[in-house]
Amino acid sequence: MAVPDHRASSIVRLTVERVVAGGDGLAREDAGRVVFVPGALPGEVVDVVLVGAKRDFARAQVVELIEPSPVRVEAPCQARARGCGGCDWQHVAIAGQLDLKVGIVREALRRTGRLPDAEVSVGGSVQPWGYRTSMRFAVDGEGRPGLRRGRSNDVVDVDECLVAHPALVAMVPSLRVPVAEEVSLRVSASNGARSAWWTPPHAVAHGLPADVMVGPQAFVVEQVAGRALRVSAQSFFQSGPEAAELLIATVRKLAAPELDAAGTVVDAYGGVGLFAATCTPAETEVIVVEGSPSACADARHNLADRQAAVHETSVERWNPCRADVVIADPSRQGLGGEAVARLALTGAATLVLVSCDPVSLARDAVLLHAAGYVHRQTVALDLFPHTHHVEAVTRFDLGDVALTAG
Ligand SMILES: C[S@@+](CC[C@H](N)C(=O)[O-])C[C@H]1O[C@@H](n2cnc3c(N)ncnc32)[C@H](O)[C@@H]1O
Repeated sequence: MAVPDHRASSIVRLTVERVVAGGDGLAREDAGRVVFVPGALPGEVVDVVLVGAKRDFARAQVVELIEPSPVRVEAPCQARARGCGGCDWQHVAIAGQLDLKVGIVREALRRTGRLPDAEVSVGGSVQPWGYRTSMRFAVDGEGRPGLRRGRSNDVVDVDECLVAHPALVAMVPSLRVPVAEEVSLRVSASNGARSAWWTPPHAVAHGLPADVMVGPQAFVVEQVAGRALRVSAQSFFQSGPEAAELLIATVRKLAAPELDAAGTVVDAYGGVGLFAATCTPAETEVIVVEGSPSACADARHNLADRQAAVHETSVERWNPCRADVVIADPSRQGLGGEAVARLALTGAATLVLVSCDPVSLARDAVLLHAAGYVHRQTVALDLFPHTHHVEAVTRFDLGDVALTAG
């Protein structure tokens, strides 16, 4: 940990209670004020200086680690040592990471979701290293892709990245994309095909290996749960096929009987049709609701052998139809009120929510409750080992109160 030069008089000794959404440790001053301590782990005793103080809470920086947690380890990555903020939990033993993440989800549901007794169970994790087959890179002033320094816009070189698929990192050292803001690189774990995409699209790249597909038509094919899925360079895909399979297995674990019996399933925020293609029997009608034109084109391609409709629209503006089950996998900000209202109008008896942010899950749980959906069970997954990110898959069932589409 960094040791800033501060006068001893400003140092405060704290014991960390737990980690919270966003990954920081939470401690309390003697007077009860909450202090957020980046990098600190539950049970650790730390000397800190306050670097930002408000009436109700403060932020701190660790000056000295007095009593380390038994799950604290040396971060192994060189890029991390140079300040890369991509893996903010490399100092946590892999065996301890998912338990901490489960605690974060439980706490978010308790505090924000008003669900003190919510059932939250431990799901699985992807392999700890080399799991990322899709990655977005920031670009520095000379056009070099890299990763952001923690809590900064600076770009750190990544000639090594332990969580990325090796064929993905291999594209980085020679690549230059002057004037680009962001570069997305992807590799198919099943056949090694690679694609690249950057914004703004008129930027010109140099130094990409000849096999890498670029441009609006670029895509890779990934094998997931026995299906070949086309994923265009501009379309969203999970951190890798292992993450996708873990999610599919968890969605099915929570709602297999309902999915198997359903006449119609809505895959909201459906991307390339991942859940529609893999979670439902072949004869089930599936409706994908997705805002990205690129992902919609992929979903139409991937579901060509199915009774499927792809609605290219935002969920908030979607004209709902009746459905038996909804699977919803929104971006980090969650569903929000308008999307909850639209999804509730399907009258679906079961709604499976896939959330990548515990606090937005908890906010959505409140909104879904108001729309008649009762929280049944949440399963927490680690799809991003060595980071604080946690994925939660939650089943909600329609209670007595519901408005339905005609
Ligand atoms: C977390 S991804 C999930 C995609 C897919 N379920 C999967 O697992 O591959 C969220 C998807 O929602 C889409 N999206 C974001 N906001 C949306 C909105 N308001 N309405 C519809 N789709 C949206 C994004 O383009 C992206 O494909």
